[in-house]
Amino acid sequence: MAHQLLKGKKGIIFGALDERSIAWKTALACVAEGAEITLSNAPIALRMGKINELAKLCNAEVIPADATSTADLDNLMQKAMEIHGGKLDFMLHSIGMSPNVRKNFSYTETNYENFLKTLDISALSLHRVLQSAKKADALNEWGSVVALTYIAAQRAFPGYNDMADAKAMLESIARSFGYHYGFAKKVRVNTVSQSPTVTTAGSGVAGFDVFLDYAEKMSPLGNASAEQCADYCVSLFSDYTRMVTMQNLFHDGGFSFTGVSTPIVEDITKANTL
Ligand SMILES: NC(=O)c1ccc[n+]([C@@H]2O[C@H](COP(=O)([O-])OP(=O)(O)OC[C@H]3O[C@@H](n4cnc5c(N)ncnc54)[C@H](O)[C@@H]3O)[C@@H](O)[C@H]2O)c1
Repeated sequence: MAHQLLKGKKGIIFGALDERSIAWKTALACVAEGAEITLSNAPIALRMGKINELAKLCNAEVIPADATSTADLDNLMQKAMEIHGGKLDFMLHSIGMSPNVRKNFSYTETNYENFLKTLDISALSLHRVLQSAKKADALNEWGSVVALTYIAAQRAFPGYNDMADAKAMLESIARSFGYHYGFAKKVRVNTVSQSPTVTTAGSGVAGFDVFLDYAEKMSPLGNASAEQCADYCVSLFSDYTRMVTMQNLFHDGGFSFTGVSTPIVEDITKANTL
């Protein structure tokens, strides 16, 4: 489906851990559309994950950066501009982690140190990325930054725990920074609210399998895959969406605007007649 939509564009993709990662698929899609990219992830993910395999496929360099470290991000911006011989055009923030989810603390019995880490890694990191980019003047005019989010920012999904609060903050940062970066440099900032997707981060959420099935049955188009999310991100990095900014864009097959669906009603009816 490649149309060279990103020919001549250069960008940074954060958060590719393994071939299931949404960032992995987005990196491949961007390169297929003609972009040059640099990959980044936390130092530990570089040791544990498969990012070097992806780097070979994408002819890309990998620069480690902990997204909670301004020094790492400042270094990344400089190095990426050196590699690409000038300013960049797009960035994907595909970063999320909750120590409370990992360690099975429930939302109501939360551990506050963990909670702060969740917010730092999963939400404030977007502010840091944008601040480092703006400070280094690393993005060309009409550049595009996309961060991935989830509908638990708007509605209660109990298993999503403190990540729901992190996503609400992430979406707010996209709006607020998008305002400032738009006026200052015509850079656009949006979040994409993706369907549940089988990845390392996704599968960490309690009851994920059942939830995946529920979302599939609730969505008129079914769940959006990671590959389809990658295609949507490409469109947001392209010149065809230059006037879209400060938005939270649902990429979920219609889940977000469906009250109840026939397959769900049928399932409940069947269960009630057993
Ligand atoms: N999988 C889903 O169901 C789903 C749905 C909606 C949104 N999302 C969002 O998509 C994004 C990508 O997640 P994914 O599902 O591809 O899972 P993933 O586990 O493949 O990606 C998460 C990434 O975050 C990185 N990360 C964690 N801590 C970091 C840090 N301190 N610095 C830099 N990077 C760090 C990890 O190394 C990993 O590469 C996340 O923001 C996630 O919340 C996922």
